[in-house]
Amino acid sequence: MSKRPVVVCASGSGSDLQSILDAIERGWIEDARVATVVSDNGEAFALERARRAGAAAVHVPPVPRAEGGREEHERRVQDAIEANGGADLVVLAGYMRILSPGFVRAWHGRLVNIHPALLPAYPGADGPGDALAGGARITGCTTHFVDEGVDSGPIILQGAVAVHPDDDREALHKRILALEHQLLPRTVDLFVQGRLRLVGRQVRIEPGDSWHGRVERIPDALYPVGF
Ligand code: GRF
Repeated sequence: MSKRPVVVCASGSGSDLQSILDAIERGWIEDARVATVVSDNGEAFALERARRAGAAAVHVPPVPRAEGGREEHERRVQDAIEANGGADLVVLAGYMRILSPGFVRAWHGRLVNIHPALLPAYPGADGPGDALAGGARITGCTTHFVDEGVDSGPIILQGAVAVHPDDDREALHKRILALEHQLLPRTVDLFVQGRLRLVGRQVRIEPGDSWHGRVERIPDALYPVGF
């Protein structure tokens, strides 16, 4: 069977993207290939990671409002996806733009985001910083289908880590990221295995294999059902 094309949108370093590339390379995700990486930031290291992995690396800069703004930008993203073989799944992995309702509707059920907090707590641009500032004792990361709100769609996987008393934002984000690098590729794997069923606001995970015993367990982390 030919591998299902996945598109990853990333604005920054792309370590989440790398976790997907590595899981494919190791054979942990058997049915997917990263076809295209899209970034709104031409300097994003994510684009370099894409090139190294042989995926199309496409910089789609933000479009000024007078030239069509967000809708035009998303049309160009859509064109880039189609020009490189399409996508069965689009993953937002550190993509720092809010997508328009039209784009979200067009990709309904095939658009996934990763967020560095236990949603619905601490949505928005700085999950780790907001959890710290809010005095959270436990936080983590969430993968979810994208709906028209910000970080509000149906939850797929969540994992939790403790907030340590001496944590600063960076230390906490690093602990969360380590878990992201396990939960995000697993989410892609579950999707391409056809095991995610969207029922209203809930995601049912069909039974099958598990990644426990495959990954190095992060000390004290709490892993979700379906991992
Ligand atoms: C991750 O924490 C992701 O959850 C957030 O942005 C960060 C991306 O990191 N939305 P990287 O660019 O993949 O290293």
